[in-house]
Amino acid sequence: MKHNVSTLISEEKLINRIKELAAQISSDYAGKDLHMICILKGGAYFMTELSKYITVPVTIDFMAVSSYGSKTVSSGIVKIIKDHDEPIEGRDVLVVEDIVDTGFTLSYLLEMLKDRKPASLRLCAMLNKPDRRIREVKIDYCGFDIPDEFVVGYGLDYDQHYRNLPYIGVIRPDEV
Ligand code: IMP
Ligand code: MG
Repeated sequence: MKHNVSTLISEEKLINRIKELAAQISSDYAGKDLHMICILKGGAYFMTELSKYITVPVTIDFMAVSSYGSKTVSSGIVKIIKDHDEPIEGRDVLVVEDIVDTGFTLSYLLEMLKDRKPASLRLCAMLNKPDRRIREVKIDYCGFDIPDEFVVGYGLDYDQHYRNLPYIGVIRPDEV
């Protein structure tokens, strides 16, 4: 697979912003233990980098979800492919996701997790596409707002490719 990928957010800009988010999170959770839940696969690179700079005690877990139906016509139905391993009741949980697009995935997931009675539940998203939102989602920590373009890299894929790019790039619409 080979597309023309143009840089939207450079590796340096991304890492600097991740360090800022980590500092903010560390200060907000001072005196607490933070339990981070990464949404696979897209959130993996982001959570790994973010967690390295967080200074409060951190534990990590993973979930995998998929939306039924095609990418363009989101049905709003989310399927849990892999649930988290550890119970979250009474814990301070931070969900870490690559991107909030229509909001279907996160609005469903956060409601589901809330029912499991964490002490607190917040969301950290690397990217946000506000123009595409259908379901309202509160993003407590957001890396960057981006325009409505298809992005890849730093965990984000096109047909499972390009996740390993160390920056966020855009694939030209005529190539998608
Ligand atoms: P939502 O439910 O529409 O908010 O979809 C969120 C999911 O769609 C993300 O976790 C990504 O996996 C995927 N997604 C949305 N926009 C993009 C993009 O521009 N590039 C790659 N994946 C995307
Ligand atoms: Mg995702």
